[in-house]
Amino acid sequence: MATYTLKIRRFDPQSGQAARWDEHTVELEPRKSVLDAILKIRDEVDGSIGIRCSCQQAICGSCAVRINGRPGLACNTHLEQAAGRWGGAQSVIDDGRSVIEVEPIGNMPVIRDLIVDMDAVHWRKIQRVTPWLVNKEPIPEREYVVPRESMIDITQTMACIQCGACVSDCLSMEVDPLFIGPAALAKAYRFVGDPRDAQRRQRLLDLSEDPHGIYDCTHCFNCVDACPKDVAPMDQIMRLRRIAGSDEGIVDRNNGYRHEHAFVKNIRRNGLLHEADLLADSYGGKLKPAAARELLSSMPIALKAMTRGKMTPATTLLHTHKAPSEVRQVFDQIEGRKERLEFNIFISGRDDELEDEPAGAAAAVSAGTTDRAGSAGAERGGEGER
Ligand code: SF4
Ligand code: SF4
Ligand code: FES
Repeated sequence: MATYTLKIRRFDPQSGQAARWDEHTVELEPRKSVLDAILKIRDEVDGSIGIRCSCQQAICGSCAVRINGRPGLACNTHLEQAAGRWGGAQSVIDDGRSVIEVEPIGNMPVIRDLIVDMDAVHWRKIQRVTPWLVNKEPIPEREYVVPRESMIDITQTMACIQCGACVSDCLSMEVDPLFIGPAALAKAYRFVGDPRDAQRRQRLLDLSEDPHGIYDCTHCFNCVDACPKDVAPMDQIMRLRRIAGSDEGIVDRNNGYRHEHAFVKNIRRNGLLHEADLLADSYGGKLKPAAARELLSSMPIALKAMTRGKMTPATTLLHTHKAPSEVRQVFDQIEGRKERLEFNIFISGRDDELEDEPAGAAAAVSAGTTDRAGSAGAERGGEGER
């Protein structure tokens, strides 16, 4: 047994009172979960604590909270893990106590205590991406036959349990609440990547043209860190962009496609990112009226950067850095390919399980071509999709 101090954020918007922190001490095994501790406190000390939970097995997705400042599932987080590895600013272990702060996930309105309004944000965004398969016609007499590789490709997104942990810490959503967001965009990839879906191009066009769509993500990685199911929503968003831009040739009105290609051009030319060219190139070059407008509007930021020594007129206008030949070779090799290769494999399990297998099987799994890869995908797909 070990002793933990739980600080639980309490808030009832109906009461008109400000939020407060309640502190409780519990004695539990370190391998018990944060949810176990909250439920024990609720059962034995204060029955009014609001928390949503059901399966207690990391399956239903209902118990997402912030624990020591990081989003995750309360039922899937051991107390020792929360108090140690996740030690945030408030979990300083003073006078021998392990302090664990629990608060509701972010970017969603609080209904009460640790319960947030998933309908107001999360489910509304999921509805936004047409979260169902639109059948290709004609419908076959029996069933659609889908290549195994295609299903493996979307298995990762099918593992989502709709907990909202990724939405909680999405930086883009904090700035732009209308951003479709990581969970819904990962869901969109689930159908874009499905060969049975009839609306692949329409979906991509829609998500590219929407100013709050795929090009609104700032690659902060928070959703990747937050996801308890390794869905890696940011990776799915990048896949949507690559398919939209490189395979479907969609040049969006938000300039997302051009901006990405300006990055590539910039690195190919300079080897390092030269930001002064980036903005103009994203708008078609310095002489284009749209680029001039953008350059003018960014002058206050440029002046601030100069006063702080981050930029000088010389480095901005007269840069002479050229990409080394190795960088150019990488570009030549990739751009010289006849078709864009992308292989997304998602296998759940642990390294020690892999070590127990015969060497041949392990090697084949890492190459992503085996029955095991396929069956792992099928298992996860069967239990995970909602
Ligand atoms: S990577 Fe993109 S989608 Fe993910 S949390 Fe950051 S801004 Fe949001
Ligand atoms: S992508 Fe991950 S974090 Fe986001 S809702 Fe799905 S399971 Fe939860
Ligand atoms: S209670 Fe179901 S995921 Fe935690």
